[in-house]
Amino acid sequence: MNRRKFLYSFSFSAAAVIMSGCEKESDKSVELDKNSDETQKTVQEPPKNIADNKFEPFTQKLRIPKEIDFEKIAKAKFNAQKSLTALYKEKKTDVLTFQGDLPNPTIRIKNGDDFELDFTNSLEKPTIIHWHGLLVPETMDGHPKDAIATQMMKEYRYKVNQRAGTFWYHTHPHGRTGEEIYYGLAGLYIIEDENERKLNLPSGEFELPLIIQDRRFDKEGHLIYKETPQDNIGVLGDVIMVNSTPHPYKNVKNTKYRLRILNGSSARTYKLAFEGIESFTLIGTDGGLLEEPIIVKDILIAVAERIDIIVDFKDKKVGESITLKTLGFKEASNFAPNSAYPDFGAKMDIMRFKVTELSAQSPLQIPKKLSTIVKMKASDASKSRVITMEIIEGGVWTLNKKPYDMHRVDERVKLGSTEIWEIKNSVHMAHPFHMHGVHFQVLDRTSKIDFPTDNGWKDTVLVMPIETVRIIVKFTIPGLFIHHCHILEHEDHSMMANFLVE
Ligand code: C2O
Ligand code: CU
Ligand code: CU
Repeated sequence: MNRRKFLYSFSFSAAAVIMSGCEKESDKSVELDKNSDETQKTVQEPPKNIADNKFEPFTQKLRIPKEIDFEKIAKAKFNAQKSLTALYKEKKTDVLTFQGDLPNPTIRIKNGDDFELDFTNSLEKPTIIHWHGLLVPETMDGHPKDAIATQMMKEYRYKVNQRAGTFWYHTHPHGRTGEEIYYGLAGLYIIEDENERKLNLPSGEFELPLIIQDRRFDKEGHLIYKETPQDNIGVLGDVIMVNSTPHPYKNVKNTKYRLRILNGSSARTYKLAFEGIESFTLIGTDGGLLEEPIIVKDILIAVAERIDIIVDFKDKKVGESITLKTLGFKEASNFAPNSAYPDFGAKMDIMRFKVTELSAQSPLQIPKKLSTIVKMKASDASKSRVITMEIIEGGVWTLNKKPYDMHRVDERVKLGSTEIWEIKNSVHMAHPFHMHGVHFQVLDRTSKIDFPTDNGWKDTVLVMPIETVRIIVKFTIPGLFIHHCHILEHEDHSMMANFLVE
């Protein structure tokens, strides 16, 4: 049996477990296919990660991505390539980068400005860059059908035409997005506008991008991706990197910081909280600023979602530290795909802030009113459609029971129309649902869990186990776009579909 076939047939028995939703001890996780050599091997082998023995958290300084600022330059160049870099101490590992090292640069651009980037593919297989959350023409979006061959170049040219916010970019080749992002091909994309500048939010050294990604390392410090067939349920790691730095620390002053957080993981949802700080303030979601700040104690962030928060270290003395962590929670899934690694709802430390200096600045106030969001109502919609999330025979993750076909149009939408999409999750595992080419609002959801992020503009929404979430979308850009689950192993196999706006 070839490997791919095997992975599918395995994940079918795993799928049965997910669908039945029975509680499993994390050390048993999913049923194993007893007939397979490969499975036997993984069971006998001890975990290969370095976290247990040599890994020491909070010893590496947080890396800050350099910026490509379109106020200073007119055009950028990206070249997807294999690079060698040290992520953990001096241990070198193969990674994939756009400019030779990790983290990849953060793009910063103002609404109304022209974006120009020449992209060269120096990988062995076709690939394409997608600008996640950007409202751009179909040809600029980075649909998998537009992947360019090895050594080919694509010119991205578009005018940014949307409100300020934290977005991101990553490659999007069909079937390989998970692997490419895992090894590095992703970065942040910040849009600014006048409205936001007037608010005087923390900036400069007080504005930090945090790309959170859980990863696996072997004893030599090499990144490792899929190891067992169960990993098709979602690759979970035990070492959390922030901006490509495993469990970093950051020296801070005792004042307010704006954190632009992206969950750039393969599968893991985080329930973020600060140890040592009671609450923090949510000011923005996927599609930019909220209308008003919301004070929270913790917050769920699924793969591909962004949150914009203000955390205030003002009550801390020099020498104190504050740990950003993910709280243990069971709501998103109740099993572990690979028992060598922490399960979906595991409690883990992420990074540490160390107060090393008093702030000289007088403290900034968070404005009471951040932006205006015109709320759409169900009655604005001219049509409703249902998208189901399910596993079909063969263990394939799907939308509406159809494995992805790049050239099949699954949904036809009228240009300019507003629709309600009812996303029904029939599985005992949460899935982040994402759409290209639009921003949407969440109308309602059937679970009782509170999602403060539902108050803002979204391009990705977490649909909890056996939950239905209704979103309302206005389609303003013509062309063929995709909607998919953003757990990378699910979108690769093959929980994705095309919608055509015409
Ligand atoms: Cu992050 Cu298809 O997108
Ligand atoms: Cu996207
Ligand atoms: Cu999924």
